Amino acid sequence: GEGYDVVVVANRLPVDRDGTGADGSPRWKRSPGGLVTALEPVMQSQEGAWVGWSGAPSSAEDDVTDAFDWGGMHLVPVGLSADEVAGFYEGFSNGTLWPLYHDVIVAPEYHRTWWEHYVAVNERFAAAAAAVASDGAVVWVQDYQLQLVPAMLRAARPDLRIGFFNHIPFPPYEIFAQMPWRRQVLEGLLGADLLGFQRPSDAQNFLRACRRSLGLVPRQQAVEVGGADGTRRRVRAAAFPISIDTAAMDALARTEAVRQRAREIRTDLGDPDTVILGVDRLDYTKGIGHRLKAFAELLDDGLLAADDTVLVQVATPSRERVEQYRLLREDIELQVGRVNGAHGRLGHSVVQYLHHSYGREEMAAMFQAADVMLVTSLRDGMNLVAKEYVASRHDEQGALVLSEFTGAADELGQAVHVNPHDIDGLKAAVVQAVVMSPREQRRRMRSMRRRVGEHDVQRWAHDFLAALRPDLADEVPAG
Ligand code: G6P
Repeated sequence: GEGYDVVVVANRLPVDRDGTGADGSPRWKRSPGGLVTALEPVMQSQEGAWVGWSGAPSSAEDDVTDAFDWGGMHLVPVGLSADEVAGFYEGFSNGTLWPLYHDVIVAPEYHRTWWEHYVAVNERFAAAAAAVASDGAVVWVQDYQLQLVPAMLRAARPDLRIGFFNHIPFPPYEIFAQMPWRRQVLEGLLGADLLGFQRPSDAQNFLRACRRSLGLVPRQQAVEVGGADGTRRRVRAAAFPISIDTAAMDALARTEAVRQRAREIRTDLGDPDTVILGVDRLDYTKGIGHRLKAFAELLDDGLLAADDTVLVQVATPSRERVEQYRLLREDIELQVGRVNGAHGRLGHSVVQYLHHSYGREEMAAMFQAADVMLVTSLRDGMNLVAKEYVASRHDEQGALVLSEFTGAADELGQAVHVNPHDIDGLKAAVVQAVVMSPREQRRRMRSMRRRVGEHDVQRWAHDFLAALRPDLADEVPAG
């Protein structure tokens, strides 16, 4: 029939602008991130469409323009005006929801104009999805930027099968309750048939919020809501921990080019005994400051030797127009400068701070070059960097220090778990990782590689879609 049978709705399209072709038409390249890879097979076999924002402001009248075909799927851009980028994206999504859902690490701001933009932009995404979905299609809505879309979509298109996946944590009710629009957000989400979360505790937090805010009593991981026609509808909420394209990462890491580059990186760093690595978007949820504090103290205490140790910190630029991100950058860069001032020597900085984003190959090489990987998030829905490190270590070497406040900690039991707020505990964990014997590294890495090998992003997409619509199970490879 008319339209597309599988529709993904996400804040961002799966492509980034890559200049302009000779004929003046825009060129696109696949954006980093496993979601596209995971969904490509089902999108190609099932007539798939992807609704998302291009990442740049356009004029407000632009609504949805110039859909195009790319990589075997149909891409539908949603246009956001400069005011909407400020209110919906930088404002409500990243100044309100992001800090609120990450345990209020910084204070969320509540502005009614931001909320109004959030509602209006969610309406636009819902309308775009409603316009391209075929009769009875599956629509899968992604993440906190679009929590109102499920109910808006159901109102317009009751025939659809609607799923929603939250990539970030869902907070305890005591925190969630701050939000002036908490009922509207819950009612928006409850338009879905299936709500996926990273961890069981996130799904429980959501169900508890439904009880406390809406008086809905959860039974067997589901609540019942009234349909428009007076019938009752069950909405399930469960954990579907996301993952990476493990096989692709492993294969890339095994290439001669990447191995060679990993050796080069160690040489470039001056062949230190110990290379410690952090790779994060420059975000206050990542605990980069805690990590630098622990590292500086270990140097001060003489437990790490400044001559023989390098901390490489990749801090990918992110949300740079949001005030809290600017403040964070100032803090981190000040801290880096202080550590290097105290412990560097001519021609050698003990912290190599890189405010850039790198391609997949370079990342795979860095992972291989690192003896110790530090993931110290204060709160993190999953943390895929931890899984990428594991997938890159086909040599079964390297030690992972992993915050217990990540979704990944549930799965990677053989990492060295830490509470990043406990600086002494963090220091002890870093030392434990630095001195870990090759044999112990192998034992732990093997076990973690088994887990990430079995639970890859293909498996994640399969499990979610099969739970949403069992007949799709055969169309999505389980990995
Ligand atoms: C997190 C969110 C994603 C988001 C990504 C990058 O992983 O869960 O929804 O796309 O950060 O952030 P950005 O604001 O640049 O899209």
